[in-house]
Amino acid sequence: MERSLTMELVRVTEGAALASARWMGRGKKDEADDAATTAMREVFDTIPMQGTVVIGEGEMDEAPMLYIGEKLGTGNGPLVDVAVDPVEGTNLVASGGWNALAVIAIADHGNLLHAPDMYMDKIAVGPEAVGKIDINASVTDNLKAVAKAKGKDIEDVVATVLNRPRHEKIINEIREAGARIKLINDGDVAGAYNTAFNRTGVDILFGSGGAPEGVIAAVALKCLGGELQGRLLPQNDEELERCKKMGLDVSKVLLMEDLVKGDDAIFAATGITDGELLRGVQFKGSFASTHSLVMRAKSGTVRFIEGRHSLQKKPNLVIK
Ligand code: FBP
Repeated sequence: MERSLTMELVRVTEGAALASARWMGRGKKDEADDAATTAMREVFDTIPMQGTVVIGEGEMDEAPMLYIGEKLGTGNGPLVDVAVDPVEGTNLVASGGWNALAVIAIADHGNLLHAPDMYMDKIAVGPEAVGKIDINASVTDNLKAVAKAKGKDIEDVVATVLNRPRHEKIINEIREAGARIKLINDGDVAGAYNTAFNRTGVDILFGSGGAPEGVIAAVALKCLGGELQGRLLPQNDEELERCKKMGLDVSKVLLMEDLVKGDDAIFAATGITDGELLRGVQFKGSFASTHSLVMRAKSGTVRFIEGRHSLQKKPNLVIK
């Protein structure tokens, strides 16, 4: 994959974030998602690549744009698989909550797991604790392992978990083990990659969320030298059947190489709303500012990019 693609991709997430941020706090998550999807789709047309959506807005018959199998890019350039989430955290945009992102991950063709739209159990850590976690071990054992790897007491460890009734057992066990918790309302992609940045204060992510988000987060953690382990959690016979048809073994622990093969992968995210790592879009009258994270696994380069976008030259971003 060409290196220059890294910088091109941030334009895609910036475009989606700018469009979606107009809907912040308006209580309309579908409009926020549609705006981001349309903007993302438009910018993709200018990117020199031969991309195929493997994780997207749905199957061809249910999503008008960015559907699974859709071809993206100018048709010249590297053959890549594309995972998109125009708005990761639609409720967060609708409510003005923390950590909504526009996000994409790409890898060489054939290297991203085609994760079905269902739940995945996940555990994720940053580089210091790589090789020390085990999704099959207890929450307590994983907390102890992370504490040891990071040279701190278990009381100093912070776990992040989606605030859902289904996570009650995990939350209780974390509390009993003496560790601290950061509950998040949505957005476990940021929850996962935050474990790789000391300044977020988060050490480990536990719990189930979307499987597509699991693959996207795995690309981010591959770029950061972290680790995510996952296991698909079909909720009914239909989902189980879908896994079988796709040749996915639901009992298998999905390791980094299963989620994203090799290291030719790129991750880009732009904050729509403020988060621990990325500021959200701010509209300043004549321009808007964006804050993005762009990373390439092959080189291990991590970039934070601040963008300033003229609203006079992009009048479609001004919603009346
Ligand atoms: P959406 O943007 O599709 O709303 O997803 C947000 C999210 O919080 C993801 O980050 C997470 O993986 C998933 O939803 C969790 O699903 P659920 O809300 O069903 O617990």
